[in-house]
Parts: sequence; C-alpha cells; structure tokens
Amino acid sequence: MNKPHLLLARAVFPEIVDRLAQHFHVVSNQADEVWTQAQLIAKLQGQHAAFTTGGDRIDGDVLAASPDLRICANMAVGYNNFDLEAMTRAGVLGTNAPDVLTETTADFGFALLMATARRITESEHFLRAGQWTKWSYDLFAGADIHGSTLGILGMGRIGQGIARRGAHGFGMQVIYHNRSPLTPEIEADLKARYVSKQDLLAQADHLVLVLPYSPSVHHTIGAAELACMKPTATLVNIARGGIVDDAALAQALANRTIAAAGLDVFEGEPQLHPGLLRAANVVLTPHIASASLPTRLAMAHLAADNLIAYFSGKPLLTPLNPEVLSRDLTAPIRENSGHA
Ligand code: DGY
Repeated sequence: MNKPHLLLARAVFPEIVDRLAQHFHVVSNQADEVWTQAQLIAKLQGQHAAFTTGGDRIDGDVLAASPDLRICANMAVGYNNFDLEAMTRAGVLGTNAPDVLTETTADFGFALLMATARRITESEHFLRAGQWTKWSYDLFAGADIHGSTLGILGMGRIGQGIARRGAHGFGMQVIYHNRSPLTPEIEADLKARYVSKQDLLAQADHLVLVLPYSPSVHHTIGAAELACMKPTATLVNIARGGIVDDAALAQALANRTIAAAGLDVFEGEPQLHPGLLRAANVVLTPHIASASLPTRLAMAHLAADNLIAYFSGKPLLTPLNPEVLSRDLTAPIRENSGHA
C-alpha cells in the first residue's frame, strides 16, 4: 500500500510527529496555528487521515469537501468536535483517547475542588497584591472538604476516579447522578449513592460536573439549577463548556447564590464570560485537566496508535463508529502528490 497522507491539525510532541512520519506522508502544524473551518478544509485536501484535538471541528461541510478522508483520531476523550453521525454517513472513522487520562483528570478535578473550596487562588492574589497586613479569624475562611458531601454529575471513568478520591481519601459522602446507576458492587467500592438530579443539587456541598457534552445536556446547569444548590456550595466543571450556562453562573457567583466555582472549561473558550473574569469567588484554569506531560504524551500515542493500526489493517484501539470499518477497508488508498 502507498504511504497514506496525514494532517496533524495542531502542534504535538515532536516524537509523535517523528513516529507518524514513519508511516505517513505527514503535513504537520508545528507552528500551532489555529485554523478557521475554511483553512482546515483547505489543509485536508488530499489527506486520508487527520490527527485532531478538541478544537478541530469535523462536521458535514468538512466531510463533504474532503472526499479522501478515512479517519480522524482525536487526542481527547471528549469528541463533541466530531459530528459522528455525519462521519459515519461519510464512511469516516473517528477515534478518541479514553482511559489514559482518567487518573490525571480526576486528580485535577480534585485539585480544582480544593483550590475553590479553600480559596487558594483568591488568597494568593490578595497576598501578592500586598494586601496581607494581619492575621484575622475569618481571613479567606472557606468550606471543608473532608467529611462533606461530594456530588458528581456524570459517573463515567473520571467521575468514578473523583468519587474514589473523595470517599477513600477525604471521608466524603459521595452521591451521584448519571444516565444509569452503577452496579451495586461498584457503588459499594466507591461508597457512592445514586440520587435524582434534584437531590444532587440540593444535597451536595461540592458538585463536580464530569458528564460528556452533547446538545441534550446544553445548559444542564443554569439559573434554576444553581438556585437549588446550597448557598455554601462549590461547583466544579471539568467536563465541557456549554454544560453550564456561564452567564447564569456569573450572576449566581455575584449574588452568592452559591459560594464559589472552579472552572476548567467555558462556553466559547478560549473567550470567557466577562462576569466570570470579574468574580473573585471563582478559580479559572485554561482547559488543562488532562495536562500532565506523561498523560498528554500517552493521549497523543493513543491517537497515533489508532491511525497506524487502521492503515496496517489491525483492529482500532478506541473506535467511536466501528460500523464504518466493514465498509471502507476495501477501498484502496489513492496516491496523491503535493502533501509529502
Ligand atoms: C479531553 O480529553 O476531552 C480533554 O478535554 C482534553 O482536551
């Protein structure tokens, strides 16, 4: 088989580029330009494969304009940047990068919870600004984590990692809501109890959002849900922008409807709602929950493994629409020029 052509849509570890170059004619983007949809379409011309990240939208327009494309490997567990139905219709495979990031992301969720509840960044800004002149009994007094009630919305692998940390590390009571309850064995292991969404909102001292994004969960947390939470509660979002109505959250933080929020993801990121930037009672991080170096490297290798496996006729590791496989393995790769 001729070497297939691969587009790396964003900069990645140089060792990943080198590894992929052994198997593909690679067009890389090591300058890490953020392309418009039109630029992405132009770059995809003649490419058989794409290595994508969460910001690279593979939708019906991209697919219609990229007839040679066979597979897109996302270096992310989330894949809401893929229109998976359109990809399946077009016979284009999608893969994601689950599992390798679970523990790192759960670590970060917990770090964000702790930083938010214990007001760590807010107090550091105060100190750096030279405002610390004396000890006071209530200076940056926040909420306890140990022994409190941890609510988790979305109890997949990362949610379970957070539950484990809370129950076993901090003696928290864990309650959760999910599309379906976990098995009794897993619940017992995590010391977690399934509750309705309403009870989750009302009872959690700290509520962590870990559910995958789809249009059906858009603004799952809005003004009405925030109003159901305790005024002392902390909200943490490490899932996706759009799950929380950021304007409603900014208002709730300003009104003290809830005490504080820790946010790693935002609607319209990297742009942020100005009300969030103004609020002191929110910890803001730039979508880095999976960003330890070993984990990001493992995610990149998993995306590369999928691409290499596909063109070697081997089973994919983490396919999202494997039904496509039965259709397109028969079509030969057309050698093309100008992309080596
Ligand atoms: C993911 O893997 O979905 C993370 O959000 C990283 O982008």
